[in-house]
Amino acid sequence: MTMLATRDLKAYYFTRRGFVRAVDGINIEVGEGRVLGIVGESGSGKSTLGMALTALVRPPLRVQGSVLFKGKDIYSLHPEVLRAIRGVGLSLIPQFAMDALNPTARIRDLIKDLVDSHKDSIKLELDDMIKRAQERALQIGLPKWVLDRYPVELSGGMRQRVAILLSTLLNPEVLIADEPTSALDVVIQRLVIQYLQDLFKEGAIKTMIFISHDIATAYQIATDIAVMYAGQIVESGSADKVVHEPLHPYTKGLMSAIVEPGMNIRKVKLEGLTGEPPDLLNPPKGCRFYPRCRYRMDICKEEDPPEVDVGGVKVKCWLYAKREGARP
Ligand SMILES: Nc1ncnc2c1ncn2[C@@H]1O[C@H](COP(=O)(O)OP(=O)(O)O)[C@@H](O)[C@H]1O
Ligand SMILES: [Mg+2]
Repeated sequence: MTMLATRDLKAYYFTRRGFVRAVDGINIEVGEGRVLGIVGESGSGKSTLGMALTALVRPPLRVQGSVLFKGKDIYSLHPEVLRAIRGVGLSLIPQFAMDALNPTARIRDLIKDLVDSHKDSIKLELDDMIKRAQERALQIGLPKWVLDRYPVELSGGMRQRVAILLSTLLNPEVLIADEPTSALDVVIQRLVIQYLQDLFKEGAIKTMIFISHDIATAYQIATDIAVMYAGQIVESGSADKVVHEPLHPYTKGLMSAIVEPGMNIRKVKLEGLTGEPPDLLNPPKGCRFYPRCRYRMDICKEEDPPEVDVGGVKVKCWLYAKREGARP
């Protein structure tokens, strides 16, 4: 069953200087039991995509296209219905989640607020949820007493884990985790990845989107990987294929940028990435990767590459598109 899908999703920031095309025509489909890793350099639009996927959109950001949660467009839902879905159907661990906790309440009270906000749609006993939170806290290396503290009394790493705990407490069907471990030290990172994997194995979470700037981190947990560049997906397919046989020149560049090949990633010896991603106020016409690509051809500068299927992997690159005049 497809749990989350997008149709030509666009999310632009309307600024005085023009519009920033942070998410520019994205189509994804994530089925039950899948973990989609979304990877790409900083500024490629990953966090904006995370917000668009959960309808957490405020000016100057505006969304076009659709996001289907179990077949229903979340942008056409009544606000009350959407509110009931949050945290239970669809949940986001935002990037920098640790800074988003309400500072004036103890963690225990935040759990109460969470339970209260769903009292009209699902029956949840506060005591059960506190107990669940205590058990799960231990799994990510948090002592039980964190529940009795205010966010300011906790370290950044602890606050980050509390935010992860809250976003996962109601066993969301679809969890979107935006760089959940980037603020944590390596040992705690492993615990958190393990925690998410355990929730997944238990069936507490059915589907996940795991966003990371680091393809090696995403590979630890993802079944599928989508590579994002300048607001678009340039390659997507099974995690093994994308990591071990990268097709798009940008994916090859990301692979070569892995400093420590963790978790069974064979270090593919590839040329590194040079240059910077384009300005999304004014993306180049043709392929957005053109200015940095070592395989570029004349056509790449002029025409946006189509997405083609190469052995089950979708790649948006002229190198793989059969076309008159397109020769390497
Ligand atoms: N509030 C905003 N106003 C204008 N541009 C923004 C705003 N927030 C983010 N952007 C721009 O949107 C693009 C994508 O940002 P983001 O989604 O945070 O990427 P990532 O998560 O991949 O680092 C960047 O060019 C960023 O500068
Ligand atoms: Mg981000």
